[in-house]
Amino acid sequence: MLELNPNVRWTDIAGQEEAKTLLAEALVMPALMPEFFKGIRRPWRGILMCGPPGTGKTMLAKAVATECNTTFFNISASSISSKWRGESEKLVRTLFQMARLHSPSTIFIDEIESISSTRGGASEHETSRRVKTELLVQMDGVGSSLIKSLDGRDPVVMVLAATNLPWLLDEAMRRRLEKRIYIGPPDLLAREQMLRISLKDVDVEEDVDVEDIAKRVQGFSGADIATLCRDAAMMKLREKMRSVKPSELNLLKPEDLKLPVSKSDFEAALLKVQSSLSSADFERYDQWLADYGSA
Ligand SMILES: Nc1ncnc2c1ncn2[C@@H]1O[C@H](COP(=O)(O)OP(=O)(O)OP(=O)(O)O)[C@@H](O)[C@H]1O
Ligand SMILES: [Mg+2]
Repeated sequence: MLELNPNVRWTDIAGQEEAKTLLAEALVMPALMPEFFKGIRRPWRGILMCGPPGTGKTMLAKAVATECNTTFFNISASSISSKWRGESEKLVRTLFQMARLHSPSTIFIDEIESISSTRGGASEHETSRRVKTELLVQMDGVGSSLIKSLDGRDPVVMVLAATNLPWLLDEAMRRRLEKRIYIGPPDLLAREQMLRISLKDVDVEEDVDVEDIAKRVQGFSGADIATLCRDAAMMKLREKMRSVKPSELNLLKPEDLKLPVSKSDFEAALLKVQSSLSSADFERYDQWLADYGSA
């Protein structure tokens, strides 16, 4: 459940400059100056990153863990709802207690809609209802004034959540995730950066025109671009494998596999890999943000 050292840095993430700045500010400043962030200036109780799949939400949270000097806890929704049946709400309570003790802390909840969706109703499992309630109670900081962090200060615990289905969140959770950040698909510059990041460990032929490819992958998500690059980078290897008999594979030397990616590899990959995002989805995010977005 707790993942240590995800090792993602701000520079590994293309674009999303606003989100990076906002996260750094919202999570780090209150931790540095808790006395200032009191009363009307109290920090956000929670921050919600929402946007289409594969745009870097989980990556941004991992970068927070690496780059911001706060203790980082990562709850995956599936681990609290299934594995810990019965013990789940105790787990949530303990987690927040630990976070207060090791304050300043950030608790990251990925795919939050799977814990806190409105679907509930009568069919909802008793356990998940109790987990949901405990999470809401803990986010309100009930009982937190009784605990001091190890450094003797009032604890600062921030919840950072991510979802690609924000409209499924129930109202109580939405209210606690006061700050909402849209993580959208990459613009031209970000796409170019993303291509360069994806290709940094492979040899690239001179005929590969990254700027041109960036223009042609408009509408792709970051994940789609990563898939494209992987596909292009594997093209030559696949050809090579086809030309070698299986019995001779062990005779291949590492230098035989030093096969730079070329323009034609990208052309072939571009025919296969498509954008996974649709314009209907974008309208849905626009609408949700118009209704519930925050400055
Ligand atoms: N801004 C970005 N910069 C660099 N790589 C990116 C970026 N966005 C996405 N990627 C690539 O896409 C992959 C998936 O990104 P990530 O898991 O952060 O998406 P997500 O927004 O959390 O998606 P989901 O909503 O499906 O959980 C990453 O491993 C990375 O290869
Ligand atoms: Mg994710």
